[in-house]
Amino acid sequence: MYKKMLMTPGPTPIPEKVNQRMAEGMIGHRSGDFTELMRRIKPKIKDVFGTKDEVAILSSSGTSSLEAAMVNLTAPDESVVVIVSGAFGARFEAIAKTYPYNVHTYEVEWGEAADPDDFKKFLSQLDNVKVVVSQACETSTAVLHPVTELGKIVKDYDTDALFIVDGVSSVGGMKFNMEESKIDCLISGSQKALMLPPGLAFVAMNQNARQKGRDNDIPRFYLDLNQYFDSLDKDTTPFTPAVSLIQGLEAVLDSIAEEGLENVFERHGRMRDMLRAGLEALDFELLVEEQYASPTVTAFKSSSDELSIIKDELKNNFGITIAGGQKHLKGQILRIGHMGYMFPADVILVLSALEGIVSKHRQKNYYGKAITKAQEVFFNDL
Ligand SMILES: Cc1ncc(COP(=O)(O)O)c(C=O)c1O
Repeated sequence: MYKKMLMTPGPTPIPEKVNQRMAEGMIGHRSGDFTELMRRIKPKIKDVFGTKDEVAILSSSGTSSLEAAMVNLTAPDESVVVIVSGAFGARFEAIAKTYPYNVHTYEVEWGEAADPDDFKKFLSQLDNVKVVVSQACETSTAVLHPVTELGKIVKDYDTDALFIVDGVSSVGGMKFNMEESKIDCLISGSQKALMLPPGLAFVAMNQNARQKGRDNDIPRFYLDLNQYFDSLDKDTTPFTPAVSLIQGLEAVLDSIAEEGLENVFERHGRMRDMLRAGLEALDFELLVEEQYASPTVTAFKSSSDELSIIKDELKNNFGITIAGGQKHLKGQILRIGHMGYMFPADVILVLSALEGIVSKHRQKNYYGKAITKAQEVFFNDL
């Protein structure tokens, strides 16, 4: 028997309170109990998305929110720009190319963030772009894009162009203010910083985006967000939702409110800083420069041989699961998730395990090195 620790960038651990809430028992989705539940959830979830507008809840994985945003907010033959800096930008591009749109890809080196000046130049050379899409955190590289600067560029280009942001691995782990960042649509999924099992997708839209969704006659059915927002007005969902996940969502939103949103975001930032300092003390090269490092996931480089030893030994000796690289970063990086139900003590634990693993593998004494740096960050930040 051993204690398992899931430190992947999604799915993430579920708090006991949330598991208990999900196990309380089924309620009918057309019952007064469910409409009461939805009525309580609606205002609370807006805070996490940083909006005064409604947040639609779909019972499907995060990718459905990417596709729903795309197909509701882009009309046939319109031009869309997709920022691609990793696997999830590439997924958004693939979704856009499935539909009759003119898709322009803004390529960013994997591990780097979109450069606002360069992006502005790219956009200014295109005519009639109606939608721009970016990740906040590109989970495959652990980069956080400068979303607020990008949002401003989009609106300077055309005030009517819509800015869609994929917050699947960032909503709940960092502050969003949709209005300030000029985000028209912010999407997310349940299994990351929102501390739930996979299975819910979220789409927050401002009034401009809602109007575009109403005017857009591109065919869609399950992902027609008009139905979700219309139902939300009646405190319900258009189809049978994942009821237990929505029960768990209320427990998640309550615990976020109890800790305080600002404290939750501060905890994520601190875990990132502790982990980065510790990994550097172990002579790892970090994939992402400090300015663009996500508070929810951290990527580091080493030889593919060492990375595979680390991943296996963390799992086999300590019960800790972390993630490898995706696509062409496979074998080049490892990623440690630190979002949702994760705390500074978990960072100390993984760093301490890493000290032992690299000391043995490199035949060099790293004991105490990483946790010393991490503790210094923790206590200096207090
Ligand atoms: C940034 C980002 N977008 C989209 C997705 C896709 O979500 P899902 O796997 O739930 O469909 C993920 C999942 O890892 C993600 O991290």
